[in-house]
Amino acid sequence: EKDKGLIRDSWESLGKNKVPHGIVMFTRLFELDPALLTLFSYSTNCGVAPECLSSPQFLEHVTKVMFVIDAAVSHLDDLHSLEDFLLNLGRKHQAVGVKTQSFTVVGESLLYMLQSSLGPAYTTPLRQAWLNMYSIVVSAMTRGWAK
Ligand code: HEM
Repeated sequence: EKDKGLIRDSWESLGKNKVPHGIVMFTRLFELDPALLTLFSYSTNCGVAPECLSSPQFLEHVTKVMFVIDAAVSHLDDLHSLEDFLLNLGRKHQAVGVKTQSFTVVGESLLYMLQSSLGPAYTTPLRQAWLNMYSIVVSAMTRGWAK
């Protein structure tokens, strides 16, 4: 319950500027693993990561990711209601060539974004609360890889 409060309060401010925060997250992601950029078929329309992240298609994906995080935060009391949606989302990511191991670096990028936007409000309990929610989302998505 304390976890939920920490997540909701922090998302309340961040969620107002989803796209800029998503850009911070994906800039970090492509820094940590530049190869992920190539999984986007439309990455051929741009050169380096910063350029890609300002293109409409990438911004659209960033927006989608933030929408999913937003949905998870608003369903903290019944995350299992998102299971089917997340399983399907996992399937789509398997289809485009994402490996489940990449979710580790996605998680690091999420924490990096939280840290850089929350500053001193980014505490150990807050970090843990987000990690807990993220691991529930990832395990639901990961079921999409099962045959
Ligand atoms: C769709 C790649 C992480 C949410 C896609 C697509 C690609 C892609 C190539 C299809 C093209 C598009 O819709 O833009 C990746 C890569 C990721 C990643 C490489 C990191 C390893 C995530 C995460 C979320 C997410 C963490 C949310 C939790 C979505 C959504 C769609 C999508 C909602 C649209 C699915 C649909 O068409 O129904 N992703 N993605 N992605 N992605 Fe990701």
